[in-house]
Amino acid sequence: MDNEKLYEDMKPKEKFEVLWAESGLADRPGAENLWQQMVALGFFEKPASIKHHSNHPGGLCEHSVCVAEAAMELCRTNHAFKKCNRNEVLAAALLHDYCKVGKYRDKGNGEYEYFDAGLVGHGEGSVIMAQQYIKLTAREIVAIRWHMGAYSGSQDWDTLSAVYDRYPEALCLHFADMIATHYDEVPF
Ligand SMILES: [Fe+2]
Ligand SMILES: [Fe+2]
Repeated sequence: MDNEKLYEDMKPKEKFEVLWAESGLADRPGAENLWQQMVALGFFEKPASIKHHSNHPGGLCEHSVCVAEAAMELCRTNHAFKKCNRNEVLAAALLHDYCKVGKYRDKGNGEYEYFDAGLVGHGEGSVIMAQQYIKLTAREIVAIRWHMGAYSGSQDWDTLSAVYDRYPEALCLHFADMIATHYDEVPF
């Protein structure tokens, strides 16, 4: 027991593994295959962006952990999210940017370039890629699909409003993504 590392002393990938287990994702059929695919595609090495937040190798995993932590804090502290299904918020947070794993190409010199051949959309891409291996719940699908909030474009605003009225998990994930991106990951 004494040898157990404290969560705050863990590296991002170790934290991701802890949260993965905590969310219940690890127990789902197909989770092992999804995990192997994430490793194979470089989820734990790739950046989360080229010019913006967590734009360094390993940034995608770090950002996912950051969003998961922000989401859990919101669930604990904000009255709007007290009724959220925390495991589903956590699972959605860990997978919300999974599609990015296919969008950053190693240039061979330690740097990455952006490359999007998918054309299936951002949140949609993450849902589709994850569901090739595991089954997501309706709340997880909606939260991941709509995590970009109003940034997905004005054509979505009516739907988005209905989504956030009905699914606090989706609103929670969007806020957590904003907090991680525009506060926690900003080097002051
Ligand atoms: Fe995203
Ligand atoms: Fe994100």
